[in-house]
Amino acid sequence: LQAEAIDTLKAASDADAFEAARVKYVGQKKGALKDIQKQMGSVAPEDKKSAGMKLNEVKKAIEAAVEQAQSRLLGGDEQSGDPTFDPTLPGIRPRLGHIHPITQTINHLMEIMGRMGFEAAEGPEVEDPHHNFVALNIPEDHPARDPLDNFYLATADAGAERQNVEGTRLLRSQTSTVQIRVMEQNQAPIRVISLGRVYRPDAPDATHFPMFHQMEGLYVDTNVTMANLKTVLRIFATNYLGGDVEIRFRPSFFPFTEPSVEVDFYWDGKWIEFGGAGMVDPNVFRAVGYDPRKVSGFAFGLGVERLCMRRHDIKDIRDLYSGDMRFLSQF
Ligand code: PHE
Repeated sequence: LQAEAIDTLKAASDADAFEAARVKYVGQKKGALKDIQKQMGSVAPEDKKSAGMKLNEVKKAIEAAVEQAQSRLLGGDEQSGDPTFDPTLPGIRPRLGHIHPITQTINHLMEIMGRMGFEAAEGPEVEDPHHNFVALNIPEDHPARDPLDNFYLATADAGAERQNVEGTRLLRSQTSTVQIRVMEQNQAPIRVISLGRVYRPDAPDATHFPMFHQMEGLYVDTNVTMANLKTVLRIFATNYLGGDVEIRFRPSFFPFTEPSVEVDFYWDGKWIEFGGAGMVDPNVFRAVGYDPRKVSGFAFGLGVERLCMRRHDIKDIRDLYSGDMRFLSQF
């Protein structure tokens, strides 16, 4: 048996032949060695010792042949003498992963805001109308709730999107939802940012994409003022865009802030809008069970792609989501 097994294993020229031979001789269930082992019970007691030793010898020899055949077939060691393997050739460099420019931007923004004491908070991308609209003081008839401006999930009854129907879900259209989630679960003082994806059904062009990122900020305490808001945003902008950035507030309207402003930074010789901000509306405080007579706060929402594109002089938002490594690996 030993000679037969060793010959067969030596002759095995591919992985299938090797596997068949291995199963035949040393297989755990039906292998020839196992069969012999089972017969050991019927050997006369006085012969047991020598028979056992012999069996062990055969077993070791066959197992060695199995190993040899295996390393011969799988290659890898010098003994295989593989003529196509040249150890003097330079190796092939493994392709390393690359952190996406938007992820890099997010990490950078978290670091800057973190130095001012803002902690990162998160919320779900699939939201209910309560967090995306109602608690943010956006009433049922508000155009922001229009199905044409939001990605409602098919779970919503047709035509029921605008009502606060149980079970209606949509992809969040703004990170302001996280303001509500944070205040629902924490008491003031609050100092958080939330960086994440938002979704709006815009046709893609150089400055629009149906998915983009926002950095939401929320600061709630006693006696928070608009001056605090402007200071935080100015410090942020000078850190992110460079030392000489100026900041400008233009009057605006958001249902969840009062007063509300558009935030512009003076950058590269012109004023550029980066997002919206304002003082948290008393109705928002009431929606989360805060007493608007006791606390005040500011909130802001900035476009992450816009910040990233300005800083790196990227001209087309679609480049960020093309998956083209020639573009992405530049950052
Ligand atoms: N959520 C607003 C938007 O998406 C931005 C904003 C955030 C405005 C917080 C005011 C306060 O346009």
